[in-house]
Amino acid sequence: MTKVAIIGAGPCGLSALRSFEQAEKKGEKIPEIVCFDKQEDWGGLWNYSWRTGSDQYGDPVPNSMYRYLWSNGPKECLEFADYSFDEHFGKPIPSFPPREVLYDYILGRVKKGNLKDKIKFNTSVTNVSYDGSSFEVAYRDKKNDSISKDVFDYVIVSTGHFSVPFIPEYPGMKAFPGRIMHSHDFRDAEEFRNKNVVVLGSSYSAEDVALQCHKYGAKSVTIGYRHNPMGFKWPDGMKEVFHLDRLEGNKAIFKDGHVQETDAVILCTGYLHHFPFMSEDLKLNTGNRLYPPMLYKGVVWQNNHKLMYLGMQDQFHTFNMFDCQAWFARDVIMGKIKVTDNSEIEKDINKWVSLEEKLENADQMIDFQTEYTKELHTLSDYPKIDFELIRKTFKEWEHHKVENIMTYRNKSFASPVTGSVGPKHHTEWEIAMDDSLKTFLDQPKN
Ligand SMILES: Cc1cc2nc3c(=O)[nH]c(=O)nc-3n(C[C@H](O)[C@H](O)[C@H](O)COP(=O)(O)OP(=O)(O)OC[C@H]3O[C@@H](n4cnc5c(N)ncnc54)[C@H](O)[C@@H]3O)c2cc1C
Ligand SMILES: NC(=O)c1ccc[n+]([C@@H]2O[C@H](COP(=O)([O-])OP(=O)(O)OC[C@H]3O[C@@H](n4cnc5c(N)ncnc54)[C@H](OP(=O)(O)O)[C@@H]3O)[C@@H](O)[C@H]2O)c1
Repeated sequence: MTKVAIIGAGPCGLSALRSFEQAEKKGEKIPEIVCFDKQEDWGGLWNYSWRTGSDQYGDPVPNSMYRYLWSNGPKECLEFADYSFDEHFGKPIPSFPPREVLYDYILGRVKKGNLKDKIKFNTSVTNVSYDGSSFEVAYRDKKNDSISKDVFDYVIVSTGHFSVPFIPEYPGMKAFPGRIMHSHDFRDAEEFRNKNVVVLGSSYSAEDVALQCHKYGAKSVTIGYRHNPMGFKWPDGMKEVFHLDRLEGNKAIFKDGHVQETDAVILCTGYLHHFPFMSEDLKLNTGNRLYPPMLYKGVVWQNNHKLMYLGMQDQFHTFNMFDCQAWFARDVIMGKIKVTDNSEIEKDINKWVSLEEKLENADQMIDFQTEYTKELHTLSDYPKIDFELIRKTFKEWEHHKVENIMTYRNKSFASPVTGSVGPKHHTEWEIAMDDSLKTFLDQPKN
């Protein structure tokens, strides 16, 4: 019997498990599957952990989620085609849910079957190699500190790429008297109440961590961008300045001459695609981009078609794109999709990579990833979902952010699966301090 290893039980690994389950429900004979996850439960980053640094077994904590995180994109853009928000919650819910609500949704469809039995938790994959016909996967049972090995025909890597922080150093850091941390270790914005905070970076973490600190009472928030500012209309108490030059005592000195007294520096400087467990010939080597090279259809390893990577792209689209990738990977593994010859693969990868390199703005990036996801969608039986509506929603969302970064999370959108429109949330995001599932779902009756 064909044996498949799935490494990681976050959203991508769960998409892979779900794809096989759906094929089995249709009466197809599916391979034997073993899924490994180094955490003690499923859900990947969404399985919030208070821990930072290393866990009780000495293993680095992969989790980068923080308390008070709300979805930064409309939930309608990430909805599963085979399991709508309406089905999970029994009613339409607002468009920008907090972390705990999305976690509940992600797990909803996989909890219904017996998929959990296929996952070895607290188990880190430590080595994957290929001998010309099969993969040897070595894994460590963290609780018992024992290493085992097993042989697989296919390997799906779904270990995420927002777990290993990229940590640059700036002059003066060693002598800085306050706190320096990466967003990977950020957990609770309350820590920065009444503090002057410097945030470095100009992408989603910088934007959201800075907003969190402001929302939960930081005295000031200064964002230092390196190349391009985010350029939002920041509220009083927040500003964006050009590139940190150095720290001198408790002063942050920026290259535009700006000087800011600071209690804490939060590095929102991104993450590394880090696969120390993959042998060199199988290792994806890329930065955070919309089309990492070496992956046919963004999934199949160019030099070994029995190896798949899921979710390795920079992400506008998330959960339904992961599903399209997983359904595609499943069909390659089950022989329903024949991978084309090497020259066609190279041509296809080069086409997408060169298109990506020409992208100039967010709307074009949204179009690019929507086209990619739509193409994948046509290749499997992943259920119908309105990607044109998702494209439109993403663009409206981008424009809402430009209009007002403090209010974009109060907007509502229509579901690409059921068509229902998310109701307005009972409390505007800026003053909604309690992000629990119960409070969020507790909508007043009309
Ligand atoms: C702070 C933050 C906020 C985000 N917010 C949003 C959001 O609002 N909306 C959205 O759509 N997306 C968001 N994302 C994007 C996020 O990438 C996806 O939502 C999603 O979690 C990606 O799923 P994944 O399965 O690829 O990776 P992960 O969620 O990272 O899961 C990977 C899993 O692999 C396991 N693993 C790793 N290495 C090994 C190993 N060697 N052996 C065994 N197991 C291993 C980990 O334990 C983990 O459970 C956010 C990301 C971050 C960092
Ligand atoms: N739900 C939410 O609200 C939420 C919150 C946080 C994160 N997220 C998700 O988390 C994922 C990761 O986002 P991310 O922002 O952490 O990573 P990212 O998108 O890869 O961005 C990394 C940022 O680090 C900057 N940077 C790198 N090196 C630097 C240096 N030496 N000095 C200053 N800046 C430097 C980059 O700047 P340059 O552009 O100048 O290179 C870039 O702005 C995204 O998918 C995002 O959606 C979601």
